[in-house]
Amino acid sequence: MVRNTHNLRHLLSLYTRTARKAADVRKPHTLIPRIIGRAEHKEGKTTMAAPVQIEVWNPNGKYRVVSTKSMPGTRWIDLLVQQDCRLEICTQKKTILSVEDILALIGDKCDGVIGQLTEDWGETLFSALSKAGGKAFSNMAVGYNNVDVNAATKYGVAVGNTPGVLTETTAELAASLSLAAARRIVEADEFMRNGKYEGWLPHLFVGNLLKGQTVGVIGAGRIGSAYARMMVEGFKMNLIYYDLYQSTRLENFVTAYGQFLKSNGEQPVTWKRASSMDEVLREADVISLHPVLDKTTFHLVNKERLAMMKKEAILVNCSRGPVVDEEALVQHLRENPMFRVGLDVFEDEPYMKPGLADMKNAVVVPHIASASKWTREGMATLAALNVLGKIKGYPVWHDPNKVDVFLNENALPPPACPSIVNSKALGNFFLTQSSSIRIL
Ligand code: GLV
Repeated sequence: MVRNTHNLRHLLSLYTRTARKAADVRKPHTLIPRIIGRAEHKEGKTTMAAPVQIEVWNPNGKYRVVSTKSMPGTRWIDLLVQQDCRLEICTQKKTILSVEDILALIGDKCDGVIGQLTEDWGETLFSALSKAGGKAFSNMAVGYNNVDVNAATKYGVAVGNTPGVLTETTAELAASLSLAAARRIVEADEFMRNGKYEGWLPHLFVGNLLKGQTVGVIGAGRIGSAYARMMVEGFKMNLIYYDLYQSTRLENFVTAYGQFLKSNGEQPVTWKRASSMDEVLREADVISLHPVLDKTTFHLVNKERLAMMKKEAILVNCSRGPVVDEEALVQHLRENPMFRVGLDVFEDEPYMKPGLADMKNAVVVPHIASASKWTREGMATLAALNVLGKIKGYPVWHDPNKVDVFLNENALPPPACPSIVNSKALGNFFLTQSSSIRIL
């Protein structure tokens, strides 16, 4: 971590001056829908394909920033426009943009791009961005398995992501899926809508009681720990977790809560740090997956591991689809009707493996774990600030998980990039905690 106070003071005053100037002259945004040409590379030839539609904000801005999608909220737009960016937002009605689409958006001159987790950010795009003079890319996501970070570093492009705003929202969806699966909410809802309800019956949609059962967490980082706390505190479940690192804060939380329950004459909750993932799979009643996706976690939950789980267990996945062997899962669901899953992510998104859609014991939602208004607007703001900060030459924020200060709508954000994953490789300097107190 490098501290350079002189440089920092200079940067702080620059941000203040530019921001004041921009705020003084702030006008309603200019919105110009435009169509730009799209190059297509086929059999070694480059041809012009159907055009890509964009809208342009602040056309005379000095820095050209492209967002491959429209994103929630308007603060991210304001922040870029106020800081002299011409912002081009792709409005093409196409859910997933191809590399060719994005090449056309980058064009000949582009200072930075805000992209999405569905896009393939590799050698081709980073080389094009760098050729166009770009130094910054940010995923509007915390995960960045769609990004070849080494390729970005090779071309001197910073890669931003958006941690710190997804934690509770994602954990809440994992908790929702756990409950929906345990109490068969989706099946029961469908039953009602189909007019099948003829009256209360003792066996109708009997599910699992969570209280007193064991919740298992694989990967007790930010999201895994938040989910564990929700399930322990909300439903008085015992915890078993597996992580390479000990989560002392989580353990202390469960211990303290257990003591509180005991002092109230209730059964205390307990925790255990498992020595292997298989131990969690064997012992837990509800298991939620929270690892990052890489070579070591591809098909982490496979046929053999599914077989280790209790016959009536619930498996929840809000991490990345390929962490679970989905074909093996479909087979397991078929053979074990009391086994249930809650899935937010899929191996071949946007598709499900054959047979999954027919399984009554599966609750499936379309990758919406981070989809709360607050979180999605926060992600947009952080992604924009990653790109803006790099364009302006700002340092990197000292702790990507403590980003509240960037989200305060009543103050200008600190002059820093909230989270750059290849900052060390690029030799960026950091805005340390002590020097970051001043908020502009
Ligand atoms: C969502 O899946 C994300 O990584 O932000």
